[in-house]
This record gives sequence, structure tokens and C-alpha cells, in this order.
Amino acid sequence: MAAQPTILVTRKLPEAVEARLQRDYAARLNPDDTVFSADELISRAAGADGLLVCPTDKLSAAVIERLPQSIRIAASFSVGYDHIDIEAAQARGLVVTNTPDVLSDATAEIAILLMLGAARRAGEGERLVRADGWTSWSPTFMLGRQVTGRRFGVLGMGKIGRITAERARSFGMEIHYHNRNRLDPALEAGAIFHDTVDDLLRHADVLSIHCPATPETDRLINERTLALLPAGAIVVNTARGNVIDDAALIDALRSGRLYAAGLDVFNNEPAIHPGYRTLDNAFLLPHLGSATVETRDAMGFRALDNLDAFFAGKAPVDRVT
Ligand code: DGY
Repeated sequence: MAAQPTILVTRKLPEAVEARLQRDYAARLNPDDTVFSADELISRAAGADGLLVCPTDKLSAAVIERLPQSIRIAASFSVGYDHIDIEAAQARGLVVTNTPDVLSDATAEIAILLMLGAARRAGEGERLVRADGWTSWSPTFMLGRQVTGRRFGVLGMGKIGRITAERARSFGMEIHYHNRNRLDPALEAGAIFHDTVDDLLRHADVLSIHCPATPETDRLINERTLALLPAGAIVVNTARGNVIDDAALIDALRSGRLYAAGLDVFNNEPAIHPGYRTLDNAFLLPHLGSATVETRDAMGFRALDNLDAFFAGKAPVDRVT
């Protein structure tokens, strides 16, 4: 029997995923779940055939260049792959895979949670109850915004954007979107297309960000573009922090020009811009988009399907490079 390929697994994974890894591979697990430094990752990868990495592993061009030659694939436990320098991977002949589709429902749920939490002041309310600061029901107490009848603007109408739009529609919202390419009518499902980001923003009472982190989307939501949103709009981000210029969003929230924001992803997370913590109208979650038992299992199995295909000499379904 041929020796099992050796896989360096950089973070602790769900039990069922680790069980399959241990069955089919010589798996180097990380039971303590520490985040490896670049040097640690490189030294632990010595003699391994592949990596199973997470968004917390920054595979920059410099890191990729220093990876042991034996490493031929990096399967990411994530749909996003902005933590990997794709050009450098390509140049080195490193196969990279991701885990699309399986986390779309879970992420859409978090986007809706963020919208409602921001619109209905859920964070503030929760903090008040816990601090024993709730004195009485009152007709004028902690009034929020209703989303019914408002315009839900989707920036990036991929699978997650479309599922989130479908959920928002069930709240009686009118769906607007911008995407690089207009979708077929069947996928649009009645959503109103805007051919520029600026035009979408002018029509979004709630802006929900679903575009990938690329050089083109870096700080796409900034002082100029935030000013295009209708007064009192809500910004929701479940995509990547770097789509937003934090200082500009914080200013717009502080001044009251925007009603609120619901954010699950941040620049430089977990060391987020401290300004967010000072704002009652920022509803904040710690990157929980895909964090359900079902979805994390499915992401792990999808990453393993990609490794299995690669080591069987087939093309991994989710090959990015
Ligand atoms: C991803 O898969 O890219 C997510 O951000 C992790 O939840």
C-alpha cells in the first residue's frame, strides 16, 4: 500500500473532519489551535506533501517562496482566498483550493442577523439587559428602524449575495444589486440591477457587502462612496474587512449620517479599529459567518474532497490556481 500523503493542518478542525483526515492521511494536527507564525508554518511543513490552511494563515509571496518543495497543494478551509498570494502560488506551481457553496446559507443568516441587529438596536438592548439597566417598558424606549419596505442593496451577487437577497425579500424588502456582470433573469429573481457601484449605493437603504477582497474592492466603501448612501442607511459586511475604510465608516456612524452598521469582518481582525467599540450603533460579531456545526463540517469535508482528488491525480473541483 502506498504511503499516505502527509498534510500539515494549521488549525484545530471539527472532530469529524479530523477523524477523516487521520483515516486517509498522515495528518499533522494542531490540537492547541495556536496560530502559527510564518516561520513555524514553514518549519512544521518540512517533509509534508500538502497544507490544510485557514484564513488566519497568511501565505504571502515570501512565505510561499520559503515553503518546502515537497508541498504541492494548499487546501484552504474557507471560500475566501485573499490570505494567499495567488500569483505567487501560480508561479511556484502550488495548487490552491477553497470551499465555495457550502457556507452560503450560514453566511446569509449572519448577514440578516447583522441587518436586524443593527436596525433594531439588538446589541444595545442586550448590553442594557445584562447590565441590569432596563427600568421599564415605554412607548418611546429604544426605538429602532423597521426594514419592511426598505431597499436592500447587494454588492456582489454571487451565491451568498443571492441567498441573502432571498432572505431579505421575505422581510418585504425590495432587492437592488450590483455585480460585475448582470445575472440571468432567473437568478435575478426580480432584483433591480445597477451597472455601477455608485448607482447601487444611491438606492440602498441597507447595503449588504458580498464581494471578494481584491485590489479593485479594497476600501471600495470609503468617505466618497458612503456619502452616496441615503441618509440613515445601514451598512452590513459579511465579506471582508478591507472592502471598508474604517475611519470613514466610523465618522459616518458617529455623525449619525448612517443609522447603523452590522459587521462580522474587519480590517486586521481581531485587532479591529477601536473606534467601533465606542459606537452604540455598530453591531459587531467576531467573524461568525460560517460558524455553524453543519457548515464547518461541510467546509472541512470539501477541503478534504479537494485534497483527495489532488492526491488521486485528478483535478480538485475547487481549484483556484
Ligand atoms: C471564508 O470562508 O472565507 C469565511 O470568511 C470564513 O468564515
